Amino acid sequence: MAKTPVQFRLNGSDKAVFVDGGENLLNALRHGVGDTSPKYGCGQGTCGVCTVLVDGEPQLACLTLAETCNGRSIETAIGLSDGPNLHPLQMAFMEHFAAQCGFCTSGMLMAAKALLDRNPAPTRADVAEAISGNICRCTGYEPIINAILDAASWYGAPGSGGQSRARV
Ligand code: FES
Ligand code: FES
Repeated sequence: MAKTPVQFRLNGSDKAVFVDGGENLLNALRHGVGDTSPKYGCGQGTCGVCTVLVDGEPQLACLTLAETCNGRSIETAIGLSDGPNLHPLQMAFMEHFAAQCGFCTSGMLMAAKALLDRNPAPTRADVAEAISGNICRCTGYEPIINAILDAASWYGAPGSGGQSRARV
């Protein structure tokens, strides 16, 4: 089967892959460029573990055709930290014990990042809505919501740059 070349920015770096017709973005990321931070769960758009940002918008990578991402900018959980400096969301998830098995975490982080990027001062209801497509079987959601609200208090803090929260 003929392959199609696709080029995109992934966490700020140029990437090029050949994809099959109908291949989804999740497969292209995990097996094409080796970024396994977006997880494979249901493969049907119902669990949210594959959530990535495409041009800043959260998308389910399992339902996104890789070809449609040509020339676009993609963010995944592996790109959140800056070397040893964790992203505020990662720090807050750690401090609030918002990850147990961790399988939902990368998708949760990206859904939360999309929210905080557009609304750095969300309400609890805003957070709940933003992660409503992301299933967690471990935490009961409260620690996750608390972590995102805590990260929000950091997000626009002077000196945070809206990005990195130094490890303490
Ligand atoms: S793997 Fe994409 S929504 Fe479940
Ligand atoms: S921490 Fe286990 S599914 Fe969310």
